Amino acid sequence: MSEPILTLVDVAVAFDALRAVDGVSLTVPRGQRRAIIGPNGAGKTTLFNAIAGAVPPTSGKILFDAREITRLPPHRRAQLGISRTFQITNLFPTLSVRDNMVLALRGLSPRKFSLFGKPDTDEAEAPRIAAALDAARIGGRADAIVKEMSYGEQRQLEIAIALVTRPTMLLLDEPAAGLSPAERSMVAEIIRSLDRDITVVLIEHDMDLALGLVDYVTCMFEGRVLVEEPPEAIRRNAKVQEVYLGKPRHA
Ligand SMILES: Nc1ncnc2c1ncn2[C@@H]1O[C@H](COP(=O)(O)OP(=O)(O)O)[C@@H](O)[C@H]1O
Ligand SMILES: [Mg+2]
Repeated sequence: MSEPILTLVDVAVAFDALRAVDGVSLTVPRGQRRAIIGPNGAGKTTLFNAIAGAVPPTSGKILFDAREITRLPPHRRAQLGISRTFQITNLFPTLSVRDNMVLALRGLSPRKFSLFGKPDTDEAEAPRIAAALDAARIGGRADAIVKEMSYGEQRQLEIAIALVTRPTMLLLDEPAAGLSPAERSMVAEIIRSLDRDITVVLIEHDMDLALGLVDYVTCMFEGRVLVEEPPEAIRRNAKVQEVYLGKPRHA
């Protein structure tokens, strides 16, 4: 494909003695759909945290769009075009969908939001919010209160929030976790329909879901890259089957 948008060089993240990410090097070309798969505890979420800036790498280097971001704070990385969703929902439950979107767009907390009163969405914000809600297939739900939505819709809202800043790279951490089969298909359809300019890195434990959506797969195990292959090859890879069916990390 094209030039890389994301490059990791020997990235490690240690929590005391535990090397959650243990020397990961990988390259994601611009516009690629990439899955990061692997059993629980493989280090997938920690890897996302290192890319997004939520945890500092212990060592190694991260480049985004040809510039080094290894030590940049999360908000600077967001300004450069990196956006993410979380494995656990991260919404403001008592606010409306629209207000959650406005907060995300302005990078504010609800406290600051209430200090400033309740401003209407301005002319530039409204179409961006509408487009992101449409992309996440919740275009009709702008006035809904988050806690009154189904869990599936809340996960869709998280995708909308991640999209509203118009990222160049979207990091999705198990966006379909905890969803019903119908809701999972909806999430798959949302990801499949994303603008092809957006590079998508998707963590997904469910191989069938992940492999149907991506161009290329990185399988992690014990903090390292075990295999990188196209989806068809991953399905048949004996090492991958072994870590999926095999022993837990600390056994
Ligand atoms: N903040 C943290 N402090 C200590 N250990 C952590 C922390 N975050 C993750 N870990 C540990 O790092 C390992 C990898 O976790 P994680 O990245 O969440 O894996 P995955 O997302 O692949 O399931 C696990 O053993 C987990 O318990
Ligand atoms: Mg995880």
